Amino acid sequence: MNALNVIILAAGKGTRMYSDIPKVLHSIAGRPMLAHVLQTAATLTSTPPVVVYGHGGDQVQAKFTNTNVSWVLQTPQLGTGHAVQLALPVLSQAQATLILYGDVPLIGQAALERLIGLCSASRMGLMTQFLKNPTGYGRIVRNQMGQVQKIVEEKDANSEQKAIQEVNAGLMCVPTDALRGWVNALSNHNAQGEYYVTDIVGMAAESGVEVATCQPDEDWEVLGVNSRLQQAELERIYQQQQAKRLLSSGVTLADLARIDIRGDLQCGRDVFIDVGCVFEGVVRLADGVRIGPYCVIRESEIGAFSEVHAFTHIDQAVVGAAAQVGPYARLRPGADLGDQVHVGNFVEIKNSRLAASTKANHLSYIGDADVGQRVNIGAGTITCNYDGANKYRTTIGNDVFIGSATQLVAPVTVGDNATIGAGTTLVKDAPPAQLTLSREKQKTILGWVRPVKKT
Ligand code: UD1
Ligand code: MG
Repeated sequence: MNALNVIILAAGKGTRMYSDIPKVLHSIAGRPMLAHVLQTAATLTSTPPVVVYGHGGDQVQAKFTNTNVSWVLQTPQLGTGHAVQLALPVLSQAQATLILYGDVPLIGQAALERLIGLCSASRMGLMTQFLKNPTGYGRIVRNQMGQVQKIVEEKDANSEQKAIQEVNAGLMCVPTDALRGWVNALSNHNAQGEYYVTDIVGMAAESGVEVATCQPDEDWEVLGVNSRLQQAELERIYQQQQAKRLLSSGVTLADLARIDIRGDLQCGRDVFIDVGCVFEGVVRLADGVRIGPYCVIRESEIGAFSEVHAFTHIDQAVVGAAAQVGPYARLRPGADLGDQVHVGNFVEIKNSRLAASTKANHLSYIGDADVGQRVNIGAGTITCNYDGANKYRTTIGNDVFIGSATQLVAPVTVGDNATIGAGTTLVKDAPPAQLTLSREKQKTILGWVRPVKKT
């Protein structure tokens, strides 16, 4: 951890997003861009970062009420230099200041550690990048000895400067007392009439402070988001990085371009994930788990050697070992399946425990139920858990057989080893080891004639 001030510039309007949502709240992998930057900042220092916000300020603060941040309001927004100027009063003089952009969300910790390492009392660090097409970026102007002299913004650059391919990535680490002096001396006499923080580079060079540069490990780390297209491109880059991380840790992916992880996916050994799956929040897949195509799994745990078949949706549920789920199953919050449980197509389970080796293979709703071991739940079974006002539980013992199309009107209990006849509407408890059924006696009307169409 470094003794470090961190300023995150996040006041820009994001005009090109064409959105009512402030730019830094737009997401990469399901989390606001600013959240990514804050998370990286937290790996560098324990000093709370200073976030300069402006556009849609209330919305920005409301998203981060649980994060320790010094908020600085910038209104109107007169440029990046003006933003840093407003942050000065919050900075601790004794430590260097790192400047980050809220719309550059993928910057990595290692590159920033290098940048911080460049900074001393007589030296500032600047992150630069070499681009084939440098259009739009501030250009790094060096003298014959290769020393950085200044940054020229695109709109202020002459044709010779525009040809420079080394650009300002926008991230810098500066000794704080010097930063104070330089930022307070900025002017807005430039093409955009803005206070540019980048002008401090020229001031540093003039005052004999060395400007040392470093580069990110990967070019995409310093990509900024100014449009939905750039956001989409960064999303794919981020997802591909996560896919590569999974592959390199021993997970098999049917297609590394067709997986989306919006959170933290933790996998054991020999996990297989088919195409089109989305993982949200913390998801744990134990050893040997296989996930079929087009599953959505959120904040859940899947036990060893279980298989989740195609088009299954799992949310805040736990699945034991060697279980079979889906295709087309839906496990809702509080679904808790034991080992070797089978849950088949079009079965919905909510807030219910199914103990080991129980099967519900077709077209059922099981809500607010405690189901024992080795129970067979026939097709079309429904727990009627809701009377329109309150919810009630259904309790089913071990080794029960529930016939197809049974309705269990809760609260109701089925004893161990009981059998419920198909089509039963169970409104009272069923005793153990007996056949219980509610059914009209079947009758046949002899000689009945089927109507025929009148001519
Ligand atoms: C900036 C740099 C440019 C660099 C490029 C890299 C300046 C003057 N130029 O240009 O050298 O190559 O980034 O991406 O800094 N912001 C505020 N308040 C403001 C203006 C901006 O907080 O008044 C924030 C924005 O929200 C954004 C960041 O500062 O997060 C950068 O602003 P932006 O307008 O995107 O600067 P660029 O023109 O991209
Ligand atoms: Mg920008």
